Amino acid sequence: MLTYALCMSCSLLFGAEHTVIEISTNNIGLVLRTGNDGRLYQSYLGKKLTHKDDILHLPLGTEAYITGGMEDYFEPALSVVNTDGNPSLLLKYIGHEVKKPEANVTETVVTLQGDKYPVTVKLYYTAYQKENVIKTWTEISHREKKPIVMNRYASSMLHFNKSSYLLTEFSGDWATEVRAKEQPLAFGKKIIDTKLGARANMHCSPFFELAFDAPATETVGEVLVGTLGWTGNFRFTFEVDNNGALRVVSGINPWASDYDIKAGETFRTPDFYFTYSFTGKGQASRNLHDWARNYQIKNGKGDRMTLLNNWEATYFNFNEEKLLHLMDNAVELGVDMFLLDDGWFGNKYPRSSDRQGLGDWKETADKLPHGIGYLTEAAHKKGIKFGLWIEPEMVNPKSELYEKHPDWVIHMPNREEYYFRNQLVLDLTNPQVQEYVFGIVDRLMTQYPDIAYFKWDCNSPITNIYSPYLKDKQSHLYVDFVRGLYNVLERINAKYPNLPMMLCSGGGGRTDYEALKYFTEFWPSDNTDPIERLFIQWGYSQVFPAKVLSAHVTTWNSKSSIKFRTDVAMMGRLGFDIKLEDMNKGDEAYCRAAVENYNRLKPVILDGDMYRLVSPYEGNHTATMYVGKAGDHAVLFAFDIHPRYAEKSLPVCLQGLKPDKMYRAKEINLMPGARSSLGADGKRYSGEFLMNVGLNLFTTGQLNSRVIEITEE
Ligand code: GLA
Repeated sequence: MLTYALCMSCSLLFGAEHTVIEISTNNIGLVLRTGNDGRLYQSYLGKKLTHKDDILHLPLGTEAYITGGMEDYFEPALSVVNTDGNPSLLLKYIGHEVKKPEANVTETVVTLQGDKYPVTVKLYYTAYQKENVIKTWTEISHREKKPIVMNRYASSMLHFNKSSYLLTEFSGDWATEVRAKEQPLAFGKKIIDTKLGARANMHCSPFFELAFDAPATETVGEVLVGTLGWTGNFRFTFEVDNNGALRVVSGINPWASDYDIKAGETFRTPDFYFTYSFTGKGQASRNLHDWARNYQIKNGKGDRMTLLNNWEATYFNFNEEKLLHLMDNAVELGVDMFLLDDGWFGNKYPRSSDRQGLGDWKETADKLPHGIGYLTEAAHKKGIKFGLWIEPEMVNPKSELYEKHPDWVIHMPNREEYYFRNQLVLDLTNPQVQEYVFGIVDRLMTQYPDIAYFKWDCNSPITNIYSPYLKDKQSHLYVDFVRGLYNVLERINAKYPNLPMMLCSGGGGRTDYEALKYFTEFWPSDNTDPIERLFIQWGYSQVFPAKVLSAHVTTWNSKSSIKFRTDVAMMGRLGFDIKLEDMNKGDEAYCRAAVENYNRLKPVILDGDMYRLVSPYEGNHTATMYVGKAGDHAVLFAFDIHPRYAEKSLPVCLQGLKPDKMYRAKEINLMPGARSSLGADGKRYSGEFLMNVGLNLFTTGQLNSRVIEITEE
C-alpha cells in the first residue's frame, strides 16, 4: 500500500504528463492512467465526468490489472509461471488505441508489457454509448522460449472504494434456480464460482449485482451489474482489503485449470460485461436488455415463436398418433410450432427412458416408423412449424456411440464410472468429437430441412473428469471443452444463421451471454410452478430480456388456475407443455385468446422496456410492466400470491409512460364471462396519474392475476 501512496503523490505532481485513457458511455466513466512507474492504474469508475480538466484531480488509484508475485497481497488478475520457473510478472503500459467502429461503439485496447519477461497483455474495452454497457476482455501472449503457465487469467479486474458494498448473488439448484440473496461484503473474499464444467450454472448463475454505499432499490441507488460470457466454470472474486477497498475479479474459474500458452500463441479470455446505474437496479437491467438485443443475442432483434412442447404431456411415452394429436392441440391453441422433446431416437438402445440411447441420433423405428420427415410434413400441412430436442454433447453408456467410441467420452482410464442422470459427457476437446457433434445438427438439417428449431439440452455436469484426448494436459480440460463447444456452435451459426435454438440444461444450467450468441432463448428452469417462476423470471430478468426466457404453461401447481399460469408465462417467450385434455373448454378458450393477446403484445414484452414494480421477495404480491419503445403501448402483469386476510393494499405507481399523454388501461386475459373492475372498455388516465397515483392492482384473493393493456389515445 505504501507504493500506492507514493504513486498517488507523484501523480498529483506530474499528473499532466501521464497518459490518461477514458473509456465512457453516455453515463458511465472509467478512467485509466499511467503512474510515474509506467504501470497502469484505475483512477475512476462511476458516473461519467464531463469536465475534462477534472480528471487530473483524480487520485491515481489502484493498479488496473494486478499481477501475481509482485508487491500486492490480495487476489491478482493474472498470475504466471515463466519459463525459468519464476512466478512474478510486472506489467508496464506500452500504448493504447481507440477505434470507433460505429457511432454508438468505442473500442479501446491498452497494451501492457512485462518489464523482465516478454509477456504482453492487452486489455480490451468496448463501450456501448446509449446502452451504457462496457464489454471487457484480456489477451495474453508471450515470446519466452518455452510455454508459460497461467494459474490466474481474469477477464476483468475492477476497483471500488466506497463506504459499503452490498452484493446480490443468484444461486440455487435444479428447480430452484437464481434465488436472489443479498449480503454485505466485509474484509476478505467472497467467491461465486462453479466447478461443474458443463451444466455449469446449476448452482449459481454467472451474474451479480453490487450496490455501493447503501442498498439499491429498483429506482434508487448506485449499482453495478456484471456478467461473464462463458459457458463453463466461471469465478467472481470480491475481495475487500485492509483499507476497505474492493476489487472484483471476473473470469474463467482457474480451479484445476492451469493453462499453458506457447510462444506466439494468444490466450483470449471470455468477455465480462457490466453496466453501472445511478438510479437503481431497474435501469441497470434495461441497459443490459437493450445491449443484448442490439448486439449479443442470436437474432436479438427478431421475433420469437410460440410453441407447444410434448415433454410434460407425454415424457418418453409417445407414438406418431399421439404426436399428431398434440400437433392438433398446437393448432387449436394458435401457437406457431410443435416441439418434439426427448425420446425419439435410438434403436439398439431405444430412448424409452433417460437410461439409454443418448448419442444414437436416429429415429426409433418402432416408435416413429415414418421418421422425422413424416412429422415435419404433418406439421407443415397443419400450418405450424416443427422443432426437435437434442442433447448432442452427451452419451449414455448404454448406447451404440459409447460402444463404438469409448475414447470420445470424458471418463477416467483407471476408475469405475459414476453417472449424473445415467450419462457421460463427450470429449469436446477432441476435434473428431466436435465434428461428430456438429454432424448431428447438420445431418438432421440436411435430411429434414423443415426442422425449424432445436432445443439443445445438456443434462450433466462434467463427471469422471479426464479427457482421453488431452492426455498429459488435463488441466486444459475445462477450458478446451468450452472452446470445443464454441467451435461447434460457430459452425452451426455459420451454416444455419437463421435457425432458432433454445439452450436448455436440465433447467437453468446454462445461462450466459456468450451462449446466447448461438441461441435465441434459454430454458430458465424445469420448475414451471407459476409461483416459483415468478421468482425465477424475476431473477433472470435482472440481466436477461424477456425475449430469451422460455416460459411454458404446464400442469405444475394445478391448484393455480390456467389463467395464473399463462399470465406468468406471458412474461417470457410463451409456450405450452400441456394437453388440451388437461383443460376444460373455458380454459381452452382463455388460452387461445391469451395467445392472440400475446402475439399483439410481443413487441412490447419482448422488445420493450421492463419495469419491475413490486418484488415477489417483498411480500405477497408482485407486478412487472413492459413499455413499448415509443411509450405508447404497455402491458402490466400483477399477481396475488398468498395475501393475508384483510391486508392493506396500496395502488401501484407505474413507470415508463409519458406523463402528458392520455392512456386507456384495459384488463385483458380475462376468463370467459369474467368482468374487470376497469370495465369492459377500460378506463382513461393520464400518464402522470398512472405514474404518481397508480392503479389498484392487487386483491386479497389467493393466486389471482391481472393483465392490463395500456394504450395511448
Ligand atoms: C431436461 C430438460 C427438460 C426435458 C428433459 C428431457 O430435464 O430440462 O425440459 O427436455 O431434459 O429428458
